[in-house]
Amino acid sequence: MRLLVTGGAGFIGANFVHATVREHPDVRVTVLDALTYAGSSESLAPVADDVRLVHGDIGDGELVEKLVAETDAVVHFAAETHVDNSLADPEAFVHTNVVGTFTVLEAVRRHGIRLHHVSTDEVYGDLPLDDPIRFTEATPYNPSSPYSATKAASDMLVRSWVRSFCVRATISNCSNNYGPYQHVEKFIPRQITNVLTGRRPKLYGLGTNVRDWIHVTDHNRAVWRILADGELGRTYLIGADGERDNLTVMRTLLRLMDRDPDDFDHVTDRAGHDLRYAIDPSALRDELGWTPQHDDFESGLAATIAWYRDNESWWRPLKDASEAMYEERNQ
Ligand code: NAD
Ligand code: DAU
Repeated sequence: MRLLVTGGAGFIGANFVHATVREHPDVRVTVLDALTYAGSSESLAPVADDVRLVHGDIGDGELVEKLVAETDAVVHFAAETHVDNSLADPEAFVHTNVVGTFTVLEAVRRHGIRLHHVSTDEVYGDLPLDDPIRFTEATPYNPSSPYSATKAASDMLVRSWVRSFCVRATISNCSNNYGPYQHVEKFIPRQITNVLTGRRPKLYGLGTNVRDWIHVTDHNRAVWRILADGELGRTYLIGADGERDNLTVMRTLLRLMDRDPDDFDHVTDRAGHDLRYAIDPSALRDELGWTPQHDDFESGLAATIAWYRDNESWWRPLKDASEAMYEERNQ
């Protein structure tokens, strides 16, 4: 099987490629990645001899057409992914998430190629803090930020290409991932690397916002289950019952790093900050038999801290620029 992985040099995509090389030796992987600030060939260094990396833009119709023509399936991770960046400058989000996904869809349509589109729970908007309700496949879309609005638009394009053109596609909407190779702009790696570089961790607002954490390898195992046995045209929600508020995550992280649990700063809150995300993953569990392997968040977090300690050469070149950006935004 030949597999085209867009965004395979980013956080989740690189972990997906590593797992694919390890666990599916019969699969020949090509990665298409624009190597933006969020992508790095270093993330693919451990599998460099086993995959082909094409440096290019998913909005480049000619290139995408050529690569899709020589593959059996596409797993589409490539996106602009950071909410704060989408608030500061949304244009790249429209280009990559909307036009880029359109370009991929047109190519898979022309060549009759199977597509799995990777999306986010943020398309559903947010949930109240004081009600146990969770997102399901039937929850109406209600995105809050330019990031989630462009991901919602990409999902809608996929759904309409399935219905109108019989494109063989599935969609997954996953909750917050953590694990190795995540860019230092994101919450967990930012705080870990702040401690490791002698900076104080930064909490937006009061830290009452809730995220539903899942280890990246569990997300990718679910993507493989859907790619192999998912029903065409369906949307699957991926989550691991990992709800925690940001203050709790911050304090856990500081304890695991032998710091005082109050050794952090409260900074300016995110505009339009979504309160709570929570996934009901019943369909994925009941129909495809998926269960998360990392059911202990604290040990997953400890392993992630150890990875950042051991891989400073991977994240160190990104750190100063990332913090300079946050400083400009008073965050
Ligand atoms: P990331 O920002 O770490 O990586 C994105 C990758 O896409 C990078 O390698 C980047 O270079 C590449 N890319 C960006 N624009 C491109 C373009 N125009 N052409 C080709 N490549 C381009 O993102 P991530 O966290 O790994 O997320 C991957 C996917 O999973 C995204 O679609 C995201 O919406 C989705 N998702 C992420 C999470 C999460 O918690 N991180 C949760 C649910 C869903
Ligand atoms: O839910 C899935 C989504 O999770 C993905 O679709 C996105 O691509 C991914 O970035 C993530 O979005 P969030 O906005 O939830 O993640 P982020 O890591 O930016 O922030 C997590 C929470 O932590 C959020 O409530 C904001 C807060 N935060 C973030 C940063 C960077 C802080 O309190 N301090 C920080 O320094």
